[in-house]
Amino acid sequence: MEKTLLIIKPDATDRHLTGEFLRRVESARFVILGLRMLHLDAVTARRFYAVHEGKPFVDALVDYMSSGPSVAVALERENAVKALREFVGATDPAKAACGTIRHDFGLDIQRNSVHASDGLDTARDELRFFFEKL
Ligand code: CDP
Ligand code: MG
Repeated sequence: MEKTLLIIKPDATDRHLTGEFLRRVESARFVILGLRMLHLDAVTARRFYAVHEGKPFVDALVDYMSSGPSVAVALERENAVKALREFVGATDPAKAACGTIRHDFGLDIQRNSVHASDGLDTARDELRFFFEKL
């Protein structure tokens, strides 16, 4: 069993999609181990996205991620990291496969509704970021 992190981003909480996304992840056989709603401040959002420091989109990304509440969701499943990346779809909703969260709900490449950890190491670090006890 693997663990990974999903974040329901501010564009989605703002549209009351939290329940719909949780229903979809549970239908896809992910088990919810932890759930936390929080409004990231800009410093914390920048720290979470430190890997993107220096890229042209990072300032706007930090503003967006600190614009409203997010929901951090710790998930477990076999092959969870890869399965969740496939479940959320490509970064740009316009390029995401049909049936993925980003295809179905993403607004644009920034406001793409969800975050999913991109590897086993990243998942471990990102889970620790939001859920100290996992
Ligand atoms: O989230 P994902 O791992 O698919 O993509 P990323 O390349 O790690 O980028 C992190 C986040 O930055 C994306 O999910 C978007 O919200 C945002 N982004 C953006 O605003 N503009 C881009 N050109 C690329 C990413
Ligand atoms: Mg990423």
